[in-house]
Amino acid sequence: MYNAKITAFGACVPKLEVTNFDLEKIVDTSDEWISQRTGIKARRIVTDETGTDLATGAAKQILEMSGKAPEDIEMILLSTCSPDYLTPNIACMVQNNIGAVNAACLDVSAACAGFVFAMSVAEKFIKAGTYKNVMVLATEVISKFANWEDRSTCVLFGDGAGGVLLERTEENTGVLCEELGAKGSGWEVLGNGHMPINNAFNNAKPLTEADTYVFMDGREVFKFATSKLKESINNVLEKANVSKDEIKYFVPHQANTRIIEVVAKKLKVDLDKFYLNIDRYGNTSSASIPIALEEMKSKGLLEKGDKIVISGFGGGLAWGTMLIEI
Ligand code: ACO
Repeated sequence: MYNAKITAFGACVPKLEVTNFDLEKIVDTSDEWISQRTGIKARRIVTDETGTDLATGAAKQILEMSGKAPEDIEMILLSTCSPDYLTPNIACMVQNNIGAVNAACLDVSAACAGFVFAMSVAEKFIKAGTYKNVMVLATEVISKFANWEDRSTCVLFGDGAGGVLLERTEENTGVLCEELGAKGSGWEVLGNGHMPINNAFNNAKPLTEADTYVFMDGREVFKFATSKLKESINNVLEKANVSKDEIKYFVPHQANTRIIEVVAKKLKVDLDKFYLNIDRYGNTSSASIPIALEEMKSKGLLEKGDKIVISGFGGGLAWGTMLIEI
């Protein structure tokens, strides 16, 4: 019986830090509004880096920490909802950049929940005995899809990438339990990158930038996130027969501090047990969880045997929660 365990971490964010004060110069907003409503103080925004560059940076760090040769990686699973191209997928370009010539490469699309979905797919390949070493990455450049004249959305997002190596173990540890789900009836609540029909036979207008912009009903997202996050965490812990007290850290998708505060209260869990770095990175969509994990690892917050819960939620509407023993 094989299990899948995280054995290395990596993250890579753009060089440019954009503070709320910088945004005050671009749109009619204020540091006070953004901080109070979202918890965000700054975010990283790409200037010359692509999503592939950021994912490659995270992948190199993972390789270095794991001590594996690039050829040892048998699969690269990469979550993104802001790809560089619709095809080829980013996983293929990362494979080329790091020399992981033996890796099968697949991009996964489940918006902000995408990293948890990618972890789940990776775990299945490992559990089935197909692969021993799967690199699971997430990279997002949502700034490409932001309408920089729309203050209600452009202040929320940041760019970045992160990931882990998921490795086969015969010990009873690693990914312990999960729940994945979706509520497709809510697809219009949140999204980006619309690709309308556009060909010579349907009188289509040429694509405009507005077609691709982020669209969001913030209040509906708030309601969905606060109820689903709580429900999904409870479901996973119940299924695993693990109590909240046994969890060292909850690592939710960093969408908005207020969402996380409400969920902590609903779950009756101290907010200190929820890892937060949204103040520095903004909402990096599916990259937010692996960026947080890498930061936690490098701060010495994750030790062997610690139980953590990762939980992603977002466009789809999709969600995924996973209980992991480090
Ligand atoms: N700066 C200043 N004022 C702003 C800004 C801004 N950046 N954005 C909106 N406003 C104004 C609005 O124009 C409105 O003004 P009005 O009353 O004069 O019309 C006022 O602030 C209130 O706007 P609302 O949209 O009603 O603000 P709300 O209180 O709902 O907060 C927010 C908006 C923060 C997005 C909230 O709905 C929320 O937290 N939603 C959750 C969505 C979220 O977290 N999305 C992240 C991405 S999705 C994901 O990752 C899953």
